[in-house]
Amino acid sequence: MAPGRSKFSNKFGFIAAAAGSAVGLGNIWKFPFEVGKGGGSAFLIIYLLFCFVLCYPILVTEIAIGRRSQKSAAMAFRPLGHPEWSIIGILGVFCGILILSFYNIVAGWVLGYFVEMLLGNFEIGQHFGEYVNDIAEVGGYTIAFLIATAYIVSQGITKGIEKASKILMPVLIAIILVLTIYALTLDGATEGIVFYLIPDLSKLNLNVIYRALGQSFFSLSLGLGALMTYGSYLSRKENIVSAGAMITVADVGIAFLAGLMIFPFVFSQGIEPEGGAGLIFMTMPGIFESMGPTLGIMIGSLFFLLLAFAALTSTISLMELPVAYLVDKHKVKRKNAVWYAAALIFLLGIPSMLGNGYSGFFTNFITYIGAEKPVNFMDFVTDVASNTLLPFGGLMVSIFAIYVWKRRKLFRELSHGHSSFPKTFIAKYIGFSLQYICPLVLGAIFVITILEIFFGVKIF
Ligand code: TRP
Repeated sequence: MAPGRSKFSNKFGFIAAAAGSAVGLGNIWKFPFEVGKGGGSAFLIIYLLFCFVLCYPILVTEIAIGRRSQKSAAMAFRPLGHPEWSIIGILGVFCGILILSFYNIVAGWVLGYFVEMLLGNFEIGQHFGEYVNDIAEVGGYTIAFLIATAYIVSQGITKGIEKASKILMPVLIAIILVLTIYALTLDGATEGIVFYLIPDLSKLNLNVIYRALGQSFFSLSLGLGALMTYGSYLSRKENIVSAGAMITVADVGIAFLAGLMIFPFVFSQGIEPEGGAGLIFMTMPGIFESMGPTLGIMIGSLFFLLLAFAALTSTISLMELPVAYLVDKHKVKRKNAVWYAAALIFLLGIPSMLGNGYSGFFTNFITYIGAEKPVNFMDFVTDVASNTLLPFGGLMVSIFAIYVWKRRKLFRELSHGHSSFPKTFIAKYIGFSLQYICPLVLGAIFVITILEIFFGVKIF
């Protein structure tokens, strides 16, 4: 280890933190509505394929680059002898700030809903549109969430990030299991499961593929160096290949469970599952109401508490990106860096907060060439940052690892903590995916989607 660099106390601490980063609003809020938009299981199948074939090898590589260099994302490429690649790390930090700026707003809604559920205000679901435009209230919860995140990050790796994740993750898993089992007992559960699990391949199109790719990168926290940064705090003794597998399985598993929980809930109310960003905020309160006051308050607040916990371990990892950058590069004290980052993130989040109807400008922010309707600021940032730049970052990581840094050095790093690694099947799999599948698939999708989504060129 680089002298003086903080590190996770053990493998469990690292996995809790990295899985905490991965498991977030992406799994429980975003995944179900993306499945809904993508025609149910058609989306699910593509998503799973991307997670295991493309994302897992990239995830392992990101961690290895971080651990090898002992530096956070923006500086990780220099110690490996390729300073010109730092631009990718810097792009990652920038993209992380953008993602956190809107992510934190949704986390603010979640916190607000948690309080409303405790108060038994189930009506809120019908007033979601007004709720998100109550800027004082939403802004207040957003600030509260940001302060909680900043406080934990300011405490450092072991006492802040690791400790919070070790507590929050097991609680989260317990809550989601309880809620899923409950959801499966409801009337209408079967319909929900059919929608979720029986594939209707006629729904497959380029847009579904594009969104599934973005979702898999977003959900696994890939493509902008968050896991490089966490990897830089990981000891050489630990086995990255198995840790990476556990992180992937935990993330995919929880997204899968979230679907098993949400669709029975949604179908039990006879609601259309295509609700977009508002899906859970509009539908869930009514569902809790139908359970009667006591049970409704219990299950409802538990549900939003689950979301808040999931969001918190993710906002922590997103905030660690700019903070580690300031600490590593500009030698800013961690305690100060955190508040600079928080202020910037809050300011950048304002357009996302205003773009849900409050301000016409940010609500109808941009119409892509050839598109019928404008998208709001939050959707625009999602398209640019998570659906396009994350897979692009992943593409660059795979090219860097195999063609610039070289497979031999990557494998040597992966052998620390797993000495027989290069001889294993999994090594061949990772090498093959990084060398051929990732560059081809990610490169092709990148080019096609830029043309189709943003410039309206019809290719398919
Ligand atoms: N993976 C998180 C989620 O699913 C979001 C997230 C946290 C993230 N850190 C990230 C996404 C880094 C991309 C990159 O909610």
